[in-house]
Amino acid sequence: MTSGNGITAERLFVLPTPEELARAAAGRFWGIVRERAATLSRSGNSAPRIHVALSGGETPRRMYEFLSAEPYRTRFPWDLVHFYQVDERWVPPEDSRSNGRMLLESLLSRAPVPAGHYHPVDTGLAGPEEGARRYEEALRAAYPRPPGGFPRFDAILLGIGMDGHTASLFPGVPYEEGAAWFIATDAAGDPPVRRVTMTLPLINAAAQVVFLASGKEKARALRGVLSGDPGLPASRVSPARGKVTFLADADAAALADAKDGGRR
Ligand code: 6PG
Repeated sequence: MTSGNGITAERLFVLPTPEELARAAAGRFWGIVRERAATLSRSGNSAPRIHVALSGGETPRRMYEFLSAEPYRTRFPWDLVHFYQVDERWVPPEDSRSNGRMLLESLLSRAPVPAGHYHPVDTGLAGPEEGARRYEEALRAAYPRPPGGFPRFDAILLGIGMDGHTASLFPGVPYEEGAAWFIATDAAGDPPVRRVTMTLPLINAAAQVVFLASGKEKARALRGVLSGDPGLPASRVSPARGKVTFLADADAAALADAKDGGRR
């Protein structure tokens, strides 16, 4: 699946426009989930569940809209999938900066997601530390004792900030993660608000990570991440037993090329 400038490096797929990127990303995400559903069905699992985590920001909005419309609306195994948030800004749910609000607008209010299958961060709690703690507690209820100490999400969708951040892990913003699955981070990025975020070890336990990058303002960061610049948090996403795919439009991939497609 390549078009645009035709890069088919190890894990980088380039689409000519943001609209084609969104469509391709919906298709890839559906493909990952469909494959997982087929595996679970073959295994005879009596209560199959697929766990995915979605990022906020603006890039994935159109992808979520595609996912909630035909042909995916009918084909996506909504009854098996549980949706979690990669991160959330510490703002009220109706705030225009809320990632949960964006998910509601673009996906959850359009697709037949069963009740109880979307797990939002509760930003009505006392603060992001409490929000992270309670969110992790809820996830631990679904994953009591994961091997290796971190649950293996079937798919995690990540964006990339111009500064190379991903989730709410920002360059130069220290955070203690330890064995935590979710933590609170200090105000950084745009909007500069406190956040709750997945930790890197949790992201790196995933089976599949899909990065989305759109626009020329992401070209430098995407090149940095593809070439493994250690100063960029997104460069540290490297699941030991998982696969990372980068989907970008031509503008975002303008500075990348085949030699950058893999990790040096
Ligand atoms: C957030 C996101 C964040 C996002 C990047 C890219 O809460 O801001 O989770 O990690 O993916 O900042 O954001 P855009 O897609 O808006 O460029």
